Amino acid sequence: MFNSKIIGLGHYVPNNIVTNDDLSKVMDTSDQWIQERTGIKERRWVKSGDGQSTFTMGLEAAKTAISNSGMKNEDIDLIVFATLSPDYYFPGPGVQVQEALGINTVAAIDIRAQCSGFVYSISVADQFIKTGMYKNVLVIGSELQSRGIDKSTRGRSISVIFGDGAGAAVLTREEDPSKGILSTHIHSEGKHALELATEAPGMGTRWVTDIIKDNDPEDFSYRPYMNGQFVFKHAVRRFSEVINEGLYKNNLEVGDIDMLIPHQANLRISQFIQKKFGLADSQVYNNIEKYGNTTAASIPIALSEAHEKGMIKTGDTVVLAAFGSGFTWGSIIIKW
Ligand code: UT7
Repeated sequence: MFNSKIIGLGHYVPNNIVTNDDLSKVMDTSDQWIQERTGIKERRWVKSGDGQSTFTMGLEAAKTAISNSGMKNEDIDLIVFATLSPDYYFPGPGVQVQEALGINTVAAIDIRAQCSGFVYSISVADQFIKTGMYKNVLVIGSELQSRGIDKSTRGRSISVIFGDGAGAAVLTREEDPSKGILSTHIHSEGKHALELATEAPGMGTRWVTDIIKDNDPEDFSYRPYMNGQFVFKHAVRRFSEVINEGLYKNNLEVGDIDMLIPHQANLRISQFIQKKFGLADSQVYNNIEKYGNTTAASIPIALSEAHEKGMIKTGDTVVLAAFGSGFTWGSIIIKW
């Protein structure tokens, strides 16, 4: 058995900045409401017609991660791609990346675990590396949310939160069991599946033809729905539990955490966790004010930024934690 370790990171966000004031021009909201409730000041939304997609953003992040890892495209043995906003209904974007990078017929796995997608994907990559089946794995989290959300007042409780962007990591084998990814912890609770979901189009619910046939102006089943306060309460509980689970597994204490990178769901959630664990500002990395909630992309964007800024050093204990639709949640404990 081996460990895995992250040896290259990259991220990509579209140039187009959408401020809270921009949103208040198209829906009944305000900069004050959004900042107070979420901590978000602005987000990036792709401009329609500029050719950007979940795949293209993921590819850009992946190229940077591979370049930073010192590897070549052909060194990658497996691609794991997390998203809830794929370019096509099927196939998923993993195969698009395989083709674009020109890597010879390596497997491409698509992960649908929404906001926990990157944590789930790292866990999958880690298992393949641990068993020795693959040596170098490319993990991508990318989302194009802006096309699917309802930008009218009706959709304001969701649309002000979400942003577009991508992040990626290259993982490789680590022979020293005290280094790299020490453990991964992933969970789900499907009874709350519809508390945060986009129900249609789905083969089990309403397919595209049903929506067109009914032409019901009150049918918003193809827009994301979130029971915000319910999700919030579960998020703070599960974040805490799964961070503790990771610490316990590795005989670590809260005081051993050098950097916590929580999924950027809402600044209030991150602050709640920070306070609960007694962490200093310098021990928790947040960038939600700039990008909003980018779902599967939020952790790799934050990790890539924090690393770029020199906030993560060799030997640091880094904790990643996520919670989201499914419900799904998870944590990763890394000795950097
Ligand atoms: O990433 C996956 C996991 N996601 C999360 O963890 C998100 C969890 N939930 C949240 O972050 C928060 O619940 C929200 C930010 C989504 C909402 O904040 P809240 O404090 O729970 O607000 P609320 O939904 O209870 O709404 C309070 C009021 C309502 O008005 P009334 O009924 O009190 O008159 C809403 O209609 O705020 C209103 N409202 C808005 N007002 C201005 C909702 N959205 C907006 C808006 N601008 N964008």
